[in-house]
Amino acid sequence: MQKFDCTFSSATVEYFFDYSVEYLFAQYSERKIILLTDANVFAAHPSIFLNRPTIVIEAGEQHKNQATVDKIIEELLRLETDRNTLLVGIGGGVVTDIAGYVAGIYMRGIDVGFVPTTILAMVDASIGGKNGIDVGVYKNMIGLIRQPKFLCYDLALLQTLPNAEWINGFAEIIKHACIKSEPMFRHLVAQQLSDFQNNHQLLSDLILQNAQIKNVVVQNDEFEKGDRKLLNFGHTLGHAIENELQLPHGHAISVGMMVASRLSAKQNGFAGVADIEKVLKQYGLTVAANYDKIKAMEVLRMDKKRIGDKINFILLSYIGEAYIEPISFEHIEQAI
Ligand SMILES: NC(=O)c1ccc[n+]([C@@H]2O[C@H](COP(=O)([O-])OP(=O)(O)OC[C@H]3O[C@@H](n4cnc5c(N)ncnc54)[C@H](O)[C@@H]3O)[C@@H](O)[C@H]2O)c1
Repeated sequence: MQKFDCTFSSATVEYFFDYSVEYLFAQYSERKIILLTDANVFAAHPSIFLNRPTIVIEAGEQHKNQATVDKIIEELLRLETDRNTLLVGIGGGVVTDIAGYVAGIYMRGIDVGFVPTTILAMVDASIGGKNGIDVGVYKNMIGLIRQPKFLCYDLALLQTLPNAEWINGFAEIIKHACIKSEPMFRHLVAQQLSDFQNNHQLLSDLILQNAQIKNVVVQNDEFEKGDRKLLNFGHTLGHAIENELQLPHGHAISVGMMVASRLSAKQNGFAGVADIEKVLKQYGLTVAANYDKIKAMEVLRMDKKRIGDKINFILLSYIGEAYIEPISFEHIEQAI
């Protein structure tokens, strides 16, 4: 168990790491608290929500939209939410993204805290203050950058997380290792997913290390002018094929990381392509997919990172060290 603060330009976020959600509620017993969660988390952990005002949304990315926000705001009004109320989002990245956004706009801003319940939300989505909703096919089109008041990591909540979601989350952990930490990459090579699932200390150390990697990146570049862009390793192509193939996010990113690794080899002689492929497979991730290359190139040509006939790609010079390089569409076409 660890408590620590993380300071960003606009706010300090309090971390309750490896604390139970009940402990968190006790800390804020003076405040009026409203919980926001999705139907799956609500069903998996009923005791958390018992006798507490709770707004339950439908689960899934397709509900991360304005219609859900409208329903939440109606509920907040019904529950007489005022400016001193604390909204607590308990769930995966969909819940924390929506909770952060709603809290940012309701009455021009009320306090929000997150209890992430997926690996992905623990190591990525709940950290950094980015929040928002989708508009049709455009992901995260509307939103704010606004830090939560606290983050509470209750690792016991992961006991009900489906295996497919563990695998999705590990794609982001492998991404962090590739761009920022060669020792963590070696550690992942030496373990299996089941080792982390069955050993609390091993998992807790890994999640803390990953949360800190993201925290440091965001602290250095809160508004994504430089270093924060490195977190997009694998995401440029990943996003381009995610919709077409209906691939889970982690698998799409995994295919994207393979393409970015091969491009790195071509551009700078990066020698770790086989190692990355091996570790992705080891954690159950897809390394190659049969997608429509022409369609993928069309999506990439629309990407906001495009500059003329090139696109900014995140490449690796070696495992643990990433950088941004504009790559021509011709070279990308060859790599995919
Ligand atoms: N804000 C950011 O910086 C940021 C970064 C990365 C991703 N995201 C966003 O995060 C979202 C993806 O997050 P996600 O992968 O956590 O998806 P998610 O929130 O959809 O959760 C995945 C599934 O697991 C279920 N679930 C969650 N916790 C559970 C638990 N403990 N037990 C049982 N079931 C559980 C959910 O109901 C859902 O069905 C996307 O919308 C993405 O845009 C945001």
